[in-house]
Amino acid sequence: MADDRQAHWLNAQTALNYARAAVQVGLWASERILIHHTFPNKSAKILELGCGGGRVGLGLAKEGYHHLTVTDFSPVMVDITKGVFAEASMAQSATIEIANACRLTYPDRSWDGVVFAFNGLMCLRGRTDRVEALAEIYRVLKPGGKFLFTANDREKGEHVDLWKNESVLPGCQKGDRWHETDSTPVFMHSSTESETRQELLHAGFKIIQSPLRSEVALEDSSVKKFAGETRFYIAERP
Ligand SMILES: C[S@@+](CC[C@H](N)C(=O)[O-])C[C@H]1O[C@@H](n2cnc3c(N)ncnc32)[C@H](O)[C@@H]1O
Repeated sequence: MADDRQAHWLNAQTALNYARAAVQVGLWASERILIHHTFPNKSAKILELGCGGGRVGLGLAKEGYHHLTVTDFSPVMVDITKGVFAEASMAQSATIEIANACRLTYPDRSWDGVVFAFNGLMCLRGRTDRVEALAEIYRVLKPGGKFLFTANDREKGEHVDLWKNESVLPGCQKGDRWHETDSTPVFMHSSTESETRQELLHAGFKIIQSPLRSEVALEDSSVKKFAGETRFYIAERP
């Protein structure tokens, strides 16, 4: 069993899979709806964390958001995202760079929006990292700025039955688990809605809404194959 909880994200095959999703899956219907709802102004200054292969970043650029910075802590993800944008002739549409969500180097109150799509916050090394990332996201958002993300849900997600009998691993919190993938095992946290709401409130956020993806839109089969049920959270820095 791997013990580096972030190694999966540094793996070239993982990056290739996420680049493929950027090209073949694109924005989910639910993401498109909630992005427009959360960021009605296309001139909003938006920071994407955990961009993977650029799926959401490219989607945002195609939707016309033009003050866009697309980031990941993983150099291989950043490189492949640059390639995905270039292939789509959109290399000039965003700044694409390395950023670790737990240690952002951006100034206080500098973004209108932060996006951490498809469970990125749950892919950190554990609760300490999540607390640090939420504090950093809060710090870099302008007052009134919005944070949009998803978290896989232990009570409503695709692994509900598995969670019922799951014991807590040594050195882990309930909801922490290694999952098999077709590249390397991935360490992820799955939360309940009430736990993630508590973490957001603790960081100072006001919670606007937290619908399940299936409550926002029906997704096509390519989306469902790429990503199971998950819960969106939209929060605001007051
Ligand atoms: C499940 S993938 C989602 C990728 C992409 N957002 C998407 O929707 O296709 C999670 C992403 O979070 C990134 N990530 C993990 N830890 C991170 C950290 N500490 N800071 C920033 N990004 C991180 C991973 O490299 C990976 O690209």
